[in-house]
Amino acid sequence: MSKSKKKKASKKVKKGKIRRQRASKVVPFADKDFLSLKEFTREDLETLFKTAEKMKKFPESFLTKLKGRSAALLFQKPSMRTRVSFQVGMSELGGSCVYMDPQEMPLGERESIKDIARVLSRYCDAIVARTYHHSDVEELSHYASVPVINGLSDWFHPCQTLADLFTVREKFHAIEGMNIGYIGDGNNVLNSLLFGVAKLGGNLSIATPRGYEPSEEILKSIKLLSKDSGSKITLSNNPFTAIKNAHVIYTDVWVSMGQEKQRDQRLRDFQPFQINMAVLSKAPKDSVVMHCLPAHRGEEITDEVIESPRSAIFDQAENRLHTQKALLFHLLTRKRKK
Ligand code: CP
Ligand code: NVA
Repeated sequence: MSKSKKKKASKKVKKGKIRRQRASKVVPFADKDFLSLKEFTREDLETLFKTAEKMKKFPESFLTKLKGRSAALLFQKPSMRTRVSFQVGMSELGGSCVYMDPQEMPLGERESIKDIARVLSRYCDAIVARTYHHSDVEELSHYASVPVINGLSDWFHPCQTLADLFTVREKFHAIEGMNIGYIGDGNNVLNSLLFGVAKLGGNLSIATPRGYEPSEEILKSIKLLSKDSGSKITLSNNPFTAIKNAHVIYTDVWVSMGQEKQRDQRLRDFQPFQINMAVLSKAPKDSVVMHCLPAHRGEEITDEVIESPRSAIFDQAENRLHTQKALLFHLLTRKRKK
């Protein structure tokens, strides 16, 4: 063999070796489901954001990617954004959705969750579920042979986090090192945001009223993730501490779906945590405001803030569509071990 041929052959071997090493290390989108955001690695999230970016820029290039595929939307609570963005998103990829509301398909009443999971898996390629108890989404995932996507449970709202962090990336060209000030309830939206930020090396400064902090269990897992990513997570009971140095100021409703009986107490407890122009004026001038919506104008956020040029809220809502299209695409087209 000539010297140059030998060199080429050895290069090929080396390349092959490197590829094999990489492949054995990380299997992209290895988990069947998307229940809490814990399932995705940092690499998965970065890949997903790149796909969402392409889908947003060139939607016409993806029109048939999920042709003939279908998703069941199994919703126990009301929804506008999640429902519409999944339905439109799936149809923009060439697939379709079947929507089932709580009257039609009350989980565990007309039939058991395990039977629903098994039967829907015979008809559909994915199940998007919105439930009260997070354990219901977990049970669906256990019995379904197709991917189960959490479209919001009492514990997590991971699809929301995909859009949130994609919006941060779009506005500031990075997630790592960005400061998010979250003011409000330690709820499902915050739990998922915590996982996303901690995986991607962002910083989250949280201000809740006393007694409304995220659970110890969540904070324990986040501590471990943050160690790896360098993410800084801090807790306080002072909204002005949370907005100090913030690139993003984030809030959500004070009364989540299912908590209606606590409404009066919550409105009293959360009063000092409203995002209004006075709060905004104390935050860095180039910071933006985010809210997952639906907003209760005049409670957690004022009209003036939502309508202000600092609001990124409707871009954030739009990004539900692009990120969920990317999510469906990756979960439904990846190669999985048998
Ligand atoms: N943000 C969000 O999930 O909105 P919906 O409840 O309208 O789906
Ligand atoms: N925390 C809110 C989010 C709504 C999208 C709720 O669970 O109602």
